Amino acid sequence: MAIPTIKWIDNSVRIVDQTKLPGKLTFINCKDVKALWKAIKVLSVRGAPALGAAAGFGVLLGIRKIKTNNRKIFEQKFLKICDYIATSRPTAVNLFNELERMKNVVIDNPKDTVSQLRIKLKRQAFEISERDKRVCRKMGSYGATLIKNGDTLLTVCNAGALATVDYGTALGVMYSAKEKKKKFKVYVCETRPLLQGARLTAWELSREKIDTTLICDNMAATLMAQGKIDMILAGADRIALNGDAANKIGTYGLAVLANYHKVPFYIVAPKSTFDANIKTGKQIPIEQRGSMEITHIARNQIAPKGIKTYNPAFDVTPHQLISAIVTEEGILRSPVKKNIFGLLKK
Ligand code: MRU
Repeated sequence: MAIPTIKWIDNSVRIVDQTKLPGKLTFINCKDVKALWKAIKVLSVRGAPALGAAAGFGVLLGIRKIKTNNRKIFEQKFLKICDYIATSRPTAVNLFNELERMKNVVIDNPKDTVSQLRIKLKRQAFEISERDKRVCRKMGSYGATLIKNGDTLLTVCNAGALATVDYGTALGVMYSAKEKKKKFKVYVCETRPLLQGARLTAWELSREKIDTTLICDNMAATLMAQGKIDMILAGADRIALNGDAANKIGTYGLAVLANYHKVPFYIVAPKSTFDANIKTGKQIPIEQRGSMEITHIARNQIAPKGIKTYNPAFDVTPHQLISAIVTEEGILRSPVKKNIFGLLKK
């Protein structure tokens, strides 16, 4: 299941071009920070933890172009690079948390020369990526304890290897359960408008030979009403201190349905997806994307020209609807709100 979604190779950032999947598995080599910014914007690389890794590597691309040994000038240019990367997408907090981690390298080493800073920044960017590999496997292992033999799961968007450095959050739980020889089935919501479920999750799971069934988003209610779903597993892009969690648009609707039908609804997310600066989900910035994502499918127009559209890329699930949050430190049970402070202190 390990897919090398994002990797630093030969002084460039190599990413899987997710806009080309499931048709073909191809890579893009981003040689400068502008190329990586664009890859983030058009969703060639996407998913909260992968964006965190992209932030770290993006800084490395940027500082390669700074040709000075004057620390003050280096710092100014370095901060500009961080600010630029921060303009790529607003919702996944991993991107901002990892940029903060890179900035702290500079802040915490005021006496370092520029060449010493370069070495430490490189070490930090690699550590961000390596940590993601470790924590996804830990979350997978904790989350797998929730799955019983014969269970049927439902997921939305792509919270898999493609959304992380190489393993996945919600799908990581499935990969871990499979490694533990558990038998289970998965329904995948196609996830309009950009079909990350159909294009990416269905591709990842079937590649792993996991029993996978694709549905249109509006079929989830019927499955739950028929008693066919034992749990919902989703990732997150930003979790507030009270446990409200932003994820791909449509996740909130699934949580409401799950609550009505008494189906457990789990979020799987690492600590880097928590935002220690916001109290509730109301403060989460929601990305608005272009109308063509709604009026077109695979470049084919499916709606009248000029029609007005509304295209928020994410929604927020209130903490009351979340049964538990699976993290690398363990499973935060309901009420998740109470347990978050302890988690973030660790
Ligand atoms: O717009 P995307 O494809 O970046 O949205 C991604 C999601 O919503 C994922 O579910 C989320 O980032 C969690 S990924 C482990």
